[in-house]
Amino acid sequence: MGITKIATKKNIAQREWKYTNSAREAWSTILDILKKENPQYKVLLPAYIGWSPNEGSGIFDSVKNSSLDFDFYNLDRNLKIDFNHFKNKIKDTKDCIVLLVHYFGFPDVQYQEIINWLDQNNILYIEDCAHSWLTDLIGGICGRNGRFAFYSLHKMLPVSGGGIMVDNVPNKDNKSEILQPHFNLGYDLFTIYNKRRENYDYLVEELKKITDIEIIYPNIENGICPQTLPVILHNFDRNKLYKEMNDLEIGMVSLYHTMIEELKDSTSEAAIFTSKHIINFPVHQDIDIKDLDNLIVKLKIVLNA
Ligand SMILES: Cc1ncc(COP(=O)(O)O)c(C=O)c1O
Repeated sequence: MGITKIATKKNIAQREWKYTNSAREAWSTILDILKKENPQYKVLLPAYIGWSPNEGSGIFDSVKNSSLDFDFYNLDRNLKIDFNHFKNKIKDTKDCIVLLVHYFGFPDVQYQEIINWLDQNNILYIEDCAHSWLTDLIGGICGRNGRFAFYSLHKMLPVSGGGIMVDNVPNKDNKSEILQPHFNLGYDLFTIYNKRRENYDYLVEELKKITDIEIIYPNIENGICPQTLPVILHNFDRNKLYKEMNDLEIGMVSLYHTMIEELKDSTSEAAIFTSKHIINFPVHQDIDIKDLDNLIVKLKIVLNA
């Protein structure tokens, strides 16, 4: 075979992206497509799904609107999938769509094992990369295996909305035209990726010195771009810390504090325990090391540490 001087094959490494107004719109579109293929599908979701009066539920609202049946698989306190529970739920469900959520930018530590098992068993799965767009795009370690993946741009960039869905198994004869995004993607994503990782690393080392703070992901493996830095707070009221730090102008985030009604009787540790004690520190690209030093000083004052 000869080699052309420049790449000419249009379908090599092309990703079938579709721009949407939000990640939830992308997720709804995916569910609409799959429901047409099989109206009997049941959606299997992780038992750690938040809700807020302003935003509703980014994951669950689309499922409810699709009127597809649903169920949940359990996660432990550190948001790690209970693989046995997961397998049993799938085995008990005839036709299922599994949603894997890469919370806060981190794929599950068993990600490779899980997707191997799903692939071997021919199970349809989707990757919610709402928090992990750059873990996919720059890190390349998630978002390429599920039938579809979807992203939320305002969680990474200073934009007010925007989502993307990607079809990882596009129909080759039916390629959709490549549309222009209706939001500004003119950001240096590699710099954003590195800045967030650098901030994460620095803050983890500082937080390790404070007792009563348990870091959910103490190691940031190659490829991961964090959305925030989630921790579990022991012996201190999470809501009080959130309020006092925000009063001191440190923008703490509390993303998954209240679980959706459907998880009220859940046996998942993530829903029972983590949701009540989790708080997320910001590590975004606007922050530099001296801001983090200031954050730590204020945190120690609030915690009386
Ligand atoms: C894990 C997860 N998936 C999906 C969404 C929906 O994102 P968007 O606000 O872009 O619709 C959110 C945010 O609410 C989320 O946290």
